Amino acid sequence: MARNTGSLLVDDIGELVTNDGRAGDPLGIRRDAAVLIEDGEVAWVGPARDAPAADRRIDAGGAAVLPGFVDSHAHLVFAGDRAAEFAARMAGEPYTGGGIRTTVGATRAASDDELRATVGRLRAEALRQGTTTMEIKSGYGLTAADEARSLRIAAEFTDDTTYLGAHVVPAEYANRPDDYVGLVCGPMLAAAAPYARWIDVFCERGAFDVDHARAILACGQAVGLGLRVHANQLGPGPGVQLGVELGAASVDHCTHLTDADIDALAAHRIDCMCADGSHTTTVATLLPGAEFSTRSPYPDARRLLDAGVTVALATDCNPGSSYTSSMAFCVALAVREMRMTPAEAVWAATAGGAAALRRTDVGRLRPGARADLMILDAPSHLHLAYRPGVPLIRQVLHNGVPQ
Ligand code: NIG
Ligand code: FE
Repeated sequence: MARNTGSLLVDDIGELVTNDGRAGDPLGIRRDAAVLIEDGEVAWVGPARDAPAADRRIDAGGAAVLPGFVDSHAHLVFAGDRAAEFAARMAGEPYTGGGIRTTVGATRAASDDELRATVGRLRAEALRQGTTTMEIKSGYGLTAADEARSLRIAAEFTDDTTYLGAHVVPAEYANRPDDYVGLVCGPMLAAAAPYARWIDVFCERGAFDVDHARAILACGQAVGLGLRVHANQLGPGPGVQLGVELGAASVDHCTHLTDADIDALAAHRIDCMCADGSHTTTVATLLPGAEFSTRSPYPDARRLLDAGVTVALATDCNPGSSYTSSMAFCVALAVREMRMTPAEAVWAATAGGAAALRRTDVGRLRPGARADLMILDAPSHLHLAYRPGVPLIRQVLHNGVPQ
């Protein structure tokens, strides 16, 4: 395994996206720049002509360098796939979330090693495509033992593990949703919480109603988990406003928003990127891979951005609604289909994801940040949307280590 001892200079960067900018330049772009890395962290950022000496050097050859992508929403712990369901959708079937139970059956039947291999394969696939931070949810086990093992395996790959025992009510509780919520908040939470940083709930017609969702988030909060909500994906609903009310770090999907939802997100925005870079706002995380793969209307990113809401982009990587691990693809969709500017989309996929995970150590390239970055085979961040589907990530550094 590569070592990250000694200093490393990434030199001759034509366009450096730092996300450390001022109003009007959120990407904090520097031209003809260099980045010095020591002990896995960014030690210095500045003009290439002023670059300090280092033990090793990577020549970016005038290319663009960006912070690694922060994918704040992914469901990687599962078995099987649902390619036939995708094909049926492309032939006109709607997406209802009903296929989640198919994946639950396959996941319960899989061994730990099979699940671990799938998470490892997808995590490596994402890393090759520039994703240096990735949240991973449970949610296809839906028993205390299966949720706990899903999170135990997820924790082998990320610090940002999310307990999603409240994904759907499993078949064996079909007529007893109150009992299932009791399990989610009781023995299942006790088994899962040691491996989880976050708790999430699918607050949607056909999944969990607002009262159940509130109870589930409250019980997670009571044991110290941060809050996230799958909200307003399949139709309008109470999820976004519930998330804002409870101070969730992020409400995710946001495909069907009312003016009141946007007002709630905007009103609770704390308009500070505090001195340490931290956020206390509720981020709206948009998942355009899901709309692509379910052939649904895309969320109205412009309304959110114009209202001043902090927006993140993430993949939602899962076998049902969005089987992509490519953040670059999501950036391209956000620009083409959701009218985000390339700068807004790149920020949302990096610093926005960090805000959604309430992390100040990733998503930016500035002294003290983790040295997570990608060198593009392109002169500018614009090319991520301008050249969709092209493998533009030339090299990824994770904790300062070339991958
Ligand atoms: O975020 N909507 C809920 N959960 C996932 C889909 C899961 C599935 O279809 O397997 C999502 O889209
Ligand atoms: Fe999801």
